[in-house]
Amino acid sequence: MRASKPLEQVADPRELPRLALIPAPTPLLPVPALGHALGGPSLWMKRDDLIPFGFGGNKVRGLELIIADALETGADTVVTGAGPLSNHVRATAAAASFAGLRMVAVYWGTAPARLEGNHRLSVLWGAETRFTGESDRSSVDRALDAEARRIQAEGGRPYVVPRGGACALGAIGHVLAVAEVMAQCAETGIDPDCVLMAVGSGGTMAGWLLGSHLCGVRWRVEGVTVSRPAVEARQRVAALATEAAERLGQRWSLAPGDVTIHDGFIGAGYGIPSPEGESVLALAARHEGVLLDPTYTAKALAGYRALAAGGRYREDETLLFLHSGGAPSLFVGRDGAP
Ligand SMILES: Cc1ncc(COP(=O)(O)O)c(C=O)c1O
Repeated sequence: MRASKPLEQVADPRELPRLALIPAPTPLLPVPALGHALGGPSLWMKRDDLIPFGFGGNKVRGLELIIADALETGADTVVTGAGPLSNHVRATAAAASFAGLRMVAVYWGTAPARLEGNHRLSVLWGAETRFTGESDRSSVDRALDAEARRIQAEGGRPYVVPRGGACALGAIGHVLAVAEVMAQCAETGIDPDCVLMAVGSGGTMAGWLLGSHLCGVRWRVEGVTVSRPAVEARQRVAALATEAAERLGQRWSLAPGDVTIHDGFIGAGYGIPSPEGESVLALAARHEGVLLDPTYTAKALAGYRALAAGGRYREDETLLFLHSGGAPSLFVGRDGAP
């Protein structure tokens, strides 16, 4: 294992208030049949989709710190938002309910005809929902502040979580994931050359980059953007990583040029399944019994397949893919074909 520094000797995020939502390390498992089918080097998965809380996924890691901070600051209502099919909103609704907080979810667009997938789960976990009426995703950002002011005017104490949980504390949740994976790699005897993940709002990759820096791990951290152009994604990841470092008292910054994010795999748009992603989703299900999601992980692994075919990864390398969850989207808007 090429890691050199235990996290607590550098900057210990464990000193921050934290709500324990993840009882144990998530599995780190080889997926050889899928790796072979995708045509790349030795492939492993960090199974954050198997986080047992709130239907799992990467967002739960950030929420351990975000919701603890909400409690610490005396808030009584969590306000966050995204699209109705958001994993982030669903996980936040679960965490707010667990913490005894009221939850308001602000969604872009208008209320869908059917209550399904993450939207259904968020409502089940008690989220009160509002719709901006605008298809523009950034309409949520404006509405979050307006909603917080309204709650305050009614005597409530709101705590606003930005779209995607993309904030310093959200990223720091993934710094802890790096420490967790390092320990597992040491136990298992694997030494990944590269860690690959889907990139949306950027907090996850920011945390992985910061955590890898703090722990002195030399693996490359690479992302596949599934939501916005890579130029914009790199800027967001660099800014979030720098902000998270500052929150941990570290003088360290990242420039967008230091961030490797691959473009070209979004397909027709964010949240719209791509044929390449659907093909990888079927391969993972049939070869490994692993369920990917159509919006994030399937598109990221479709990117990996194309990059591997283009010769980006050496045959003797080990690649670790972060399975960041998202399974509820499998149960949305499908009639007929799987
Ligand atoms: C399943 C899943 N994977 C990956 C991501 C990307 O994470 P981030 O928004 O931190 O870039 C998300 C974001 O919502 C997600 O829901």
